[in-house]
Amino acid sequence: MVSNPRGLFISFEGIDGAGKTTHIEGVVRLFKEQGREVVRTREPGGTPLAEQLRERVLSDDMDALTEALLVFAARRDHIQRVIEPALQRGAVVLSDRFTDATFAYQGAGRGFDLGVLNTLEQWVQQSGGGGDLIQPDLTFWFDLPPAVAAERLRDARVADRFEQEDVVFFERVAQGYADRMATAPQRIVRINAHQERHLVWQQITHRLVQKGWLAIMVANNFKLGA
Ligand code: TYD
Repeated sequence: MVSNPRGLFISFEGIDGAGKTTHIEGVVRLFKEQGREVVRTREPGGTPLAEQLRERVLSDDMDALTEALLVFAARRDHIQRVIEPALQRGAVVLSDRFTDATFAYQGAGRGFDLGVLNTLEQWVQQSGGGGDLIQPDLTFWFDLPPAVAAERLRDARVADRFEQEDVVFFERVAQGYADRMATAPQRIVRINAHQERHLVWQQITHRLVQKGWLAIMVANNFKLGA
């Protein structure tokens, strides 16, 4: 089953501490078990240049416009060198964050102009062959109350520039994700991340089966973290 000549592009979003990582790893394994080529990647990042920009964005002090320009510059390189070629090969691209993060963090979190972000999105996500903008086929938004996420992050490694922000910042970011979902309800799926891990996982596999991208047998036989 599951053939899509253009490949599939799925992104994973949410505030810091929402718990995307284990689930991304699970989805990687699910698609591999189905014989698909999987490209697991992240933003900002995914190419040598974009990873350098990531380091700067996560550690250097800068204003919201600079932040937005750098994440979009990284995204452009990532699309051209990794995402588009992979989709053309028919691979499944699984990205830890994409443009919704820019609308949520720089837009809602920092209060930066959404109109400018829309323009940058149009420029940067133009595909090489023209036509539609490059967008994920599906986006999982891990929705978790910011106070709970903050608690989960408290004992985590050294916090980067975003992780150091207060709960009020993450309340705005969470609202930014909700607003973004309202503009693309077909693409963005809200995952209730304030649940036990296996219940969060069930929501993900349910959606993949519903999309016709995952055989129900594979989903039922799969153990997360096994
Ligand atoms: P994150 O994805 O949480 O990685 P890790 O799990 O290694 O900490 O970190 C990336 C950070 O970058 C996150 O705080 C959100 C931020 N970010 C933006 O502000 N704008 C963007 O466009 C993207 C892609 C990420």
